Amino acid sequence: MNRVVAADAAGLRRAAELLRQESVCAFPTETVYGLGAHAFSARAVAEVYRLKHRPSWNPLIVHVATTAEAEALAHEWPPAARLLAERFWPGPLSLVVERAHHLPANGGPPTIAIRVPAHPVALALLRECGLPLAAPSANRSESISPTTAEHVIRSLPDVPLVLDGGACRLGIESTVVDVTVSPPRLLRPGALSLRAIRDVVGALQLSRPSGSSGQLPGSAEAAPEVRSPGLAHRHYAPRARLRLVDDPAALAEGSDPGTVGILTHLPAAAEGAHVELLSADPLEYGADLYAALHRLDDAGVATILAQHPPRGDDWLAIRDRLTRASAQ
Ligand code: TXA
Ligand code: MG
Repeated sequence: MNRVVAADAAGLRRAAELLRQESVCAFPTETVYGLGAHAFSARAVAEVYRLKHRPSWNPLIVHVATTAEAEALAHEWPPAARLLAERFWPGPLSLVVERAHHLPANGGPPTIAIRVPAHPVALALLRECGLPLAAPSANRSESISPTTAEHVIRSLPDVPLVLDGGACRLGIESTVVDVTVSPPRLLRPGALSLRAIRDVVGALQLSRPSGSSGQLPGSAEAAPEVRSPGLAHRHYAPRARLRLVDDPAALAEGSDPGTVGILTHLPAAAEGAHVELLSADPLEYGADLYAALHRLDDAGVATILAQHPPRGDDWLAIRDRLTRASAQ
């Protein structure tokens, strides 16, 4: 049977059936495709870790259909959680809260990351199966996140089912915010901008990404420590070696054009055999970034010369992903 299926009523029924049987299924969200599993089935969650080759210390985000369901998974629902959920859910924001004591802990942290996704297929699936769904990005651990059903199949060839919802609208993972502390702390920059979050909660503490000297890339703000376990490593990486540079065209000159790819938002820098010229608008750039990295990998280049993205809040998540993708 075909493993990539349309997200129609029959597809949703088949996916929900798999999830109720404690198997797994990939589905689209507005950020990236997720690999879904019954969040509190040890067997289903173990299958997610196995398929993704994900280290067991890295916890998963739990997806639910409503804020009320999210609150039921939390021991406490602080004022910042209420304000942020009211403003941004359904949407690309994951909130880390204290875990309700009745939930199985399975040796994980005392907190839980939760979000209500803003994608009709994700919401329909959550309603159809009636389960909270743990769903990390549906790619092999550390590789490029998937923004199409085809990316999922290529990264996870053994996945039992993918609901095809077309290309993801945002293309960058959710912003992760810890609301157990005051002011709330940014754990992962993502599709929802810091400005939007600060407008609602005022101050936001920033965490330091791995391999940095205590500043978010392109940000003037220092930060104390890493608290999102999944950010401690090389991540979002294509097969090719990715280098962040100021002038990709100049560096590519003289090298074998077949072996070097260029990723840029500047038309002037776009010359060579394998060029991905992305939009100079951060939302459009973000929506196409992972697909562009997949295309450059498909072209078989050994090196990707990526133009440093602009500074500024709107580019924070993109700079974060490219910095991690370039980590050795
Ligand atoms: O947009 C998204 O968030 C996508 C879609 C599918 O919803 N999911 C996603 O999941 O990006 P994943 O597993 O690739 O990234 C989850 C991030 C990791 O950095 C993980 O360490 C962090 O969230 N995380 C999960 N639970 C946490 C917790 N209790 N405390 C701190 N960080 C947590
Ligand atoms: Mg991921």
